[in-house]
Amino acid sequence: MRQSRKLSPRNGGVKPKEMRIISDSSEMQTLANRIRETDLLIGFVPTMGYLHEGHGSLIRGARQQSDIVVLSIFVNPTQFGPAEDLDKYPRDMERDKEIAREAGTDYIFYPEARDIYTSEFQTYVNVEKITKSHCGVSRPTHFRGVATVCTKLFNIVLPHWAFFGQKDYQQCAVIRRMVKDLNMNLEIIVLPTVREADGLAMSSRNVYLTPEERKQATCLYESLQLAKNMVRAGRTDARTILMAMREHIKRKPLASIDYVSIADTDTLQELETIRTEAVALLAVYFGKTRLIDNEILRVM
Ligand code: PAF
Repeated sequence: MRQSRKLSPRNGGVKPKEMRIISDSSEMQTLANRIRETDLLIGFVPTMGYLHEGHGSLIRGARQQSDIVVLSIFVNPTQFGPAEDLDKYPRDMERDKEIAREAGTDYIFYPEARDIYTSEFQTYVNVEKITKSHCGVSRPTHFRGVATVCTKLFNIVLPHWAFFGQKDYQQCAVIRRMVKDLNMNLEIIVLPTVREADGLAMSSRNVYLTPEERKQATCLYESLQLAKNMVRAGRTDARTILMAMREHIKRKPLASIDYVSIADTDTLQELETIRTEAVALLAVYFGKTRLIDNEILRVM
């Protein structure tokens, strides 16, 4: 792994005294090129805004090992399906700026959709197999949008590493595959999921939950812990574990399962038996709100 250099007074003025917001993609790319010329290392946290502690931990992770930290805030239209929540996706730029500044961001890249997707735009990045299962079943165009926007953001911000949260496990696997397959010159760093006190994974979409849905939503984390404990106790047949997870979730009347799965940690192919390790992944609806979570299962 590359090591961050100590900032020297000769940093070419690329480290701002105050956090700066850049909206224009050419300006961001020119600046990123200048930063690279000074040999400073760029850590990048791509987000869709409405930041929470999960994003805070990614920014702090980037801060620890980078000279310059860039955060992007862009609600990417191409990763939303036609019936999804693009228009009502939560936004709060003033709060986001505070959280970003506190956590140590140098630059917020905050482009407009017409800058990222010009009227002539016609090029997409499609990662094949790994995007078809799990979330790809109910969101068939989602990962194409994610892979495309991440490619564009990487080309604009020119990071040495980009930070993602483990909560979006399939997204991380897709981005890693893409970076490898397309020889992209950056490292993907995945940091642990940040959770509320009762175990619910932090997500910008948690704000959609009614108080009763929010209460019942702890069943995601509980069912993952159930799976982890079963594996620790020696169960390795995926079918039995999945059945127990499903039964636990179904006890909550407002929960409706999209999928519950035990899969290979790299390829996401479904497993029948857990040999050394696996990932348990799930997506559950509460009303129209779809929550995801995951946990690594290790045979002791
Ligand atoms: O995880 C997200 O917030 C988004 O999918 C990402 C990576 C910023 C791409 O729009």
